[in-house]
Amino acid sequence: MSLLETRDLTVRFGGLVALDGVNVGVDRGETLGVIGPNGSGKTTFFNALTGLYAPAGGEVVFDGRSLAGLEPHLIARLGIARTFQASRLCLQLSVFDNVLVGMHHHRRTGLVDAVLRRARFRGEMREAIARASHLLSLFNPDLVARGYERVGQLPQIDRRRVEICRALASGPRLLLLDEPSAGMNPEETAELMRDLQIVREEMPGLSVVIIEHDMFVIEGVSQRVVAFNYGRKIAEGTFAAVARHEEVREAYLGKETARA
Ligand SMILES: Nc1ncnc2c1ncn2[C@@H]1O[C@H](COP(=O)(O)OP(=O)(O)OP(=O)(O)O)[C@@H](O)[C@H]1O
Ligand SMILES: [Mg+2]
Repeated sequence: MSLLETRDLTVRFGGLVALDGVNVGVDRGETLGVIGPNGSGKTTFFNALTGLYAPAGGEVVFDGRSLAGLEPHLIARLGIARTFQASRLCLQLSVFDNVLVGMHHHRRTGLVDAVLRRARFRGEMREAIARASHLLSLFNPDLVARGYERVGQLPQIDRRRVEICRALASGPRLLLLDEPSAGMNPEETAELMRDLQIVREEMPGLSVVIIEHDMFVIEGVSQRVVAFNYGRKIAEGTFAAVARHEEVREAYLGKETARA
């Protein structure tokens, strides 16, 4: 059985049907690409998976369990982590602090331990920094050396890496990436693709769903692709098959051009 399955997932905003009976499965260890024109429901799909939007119909099943009615923090604890289309880093905080935010579901010590700086709190912090350092060093060892610097001082590509490390810090089973290459130049995009390859090698059991407008990235990193248009899944398969699909071509190019 798939790690994640949506069954007729439907999300409405008033009269707008942003997701319309979507059935998507994500297998363990696979990277699934999600494409579709602006406003086709890609981010809404992530928001429904992570409990930010309650479905008007259908359901999300993760590891055999329905996520219906679960709050976002509980869904995160079950093992679904994400990055956002617009960066949500705290630019005034350090690199380490930003990554550590991703581990707070797993903390065993509480506020009292922290205030009293009890040994077990210090031990837990040491472990957390070690884990953050390991994740950061997978992408760029320089990020560990700069771990106590403010994230706002890092270049764009490194900020995106910190965001991905924050999502990975919780040890998820499913990682959702919403347009990670947005705002990047071609060199940075190539580095991002290399980073995603590292994630696959280091965490072979991890499933990844990646929303991207850059078809080069989608082709390079995904084993399978689904395409959305007007909230519906219009195609699914290999990148080559989906890119050839007539409805996909129409959605991107317009009906007349697609036929030309
Ligand atoms: N919170 C919301 N309230 C009302 N309408 C919304 C909300 N979120 C999304 N929508 C609408 O739902 C539709 C799908 O939006 P969504 O953000 O999922 O698109 P997208 O495929 O991620 O687009 P993009 O490629 O531009 O990021 C759009 O028409 C959008 O305006
Ligand atoms: Mg979006």
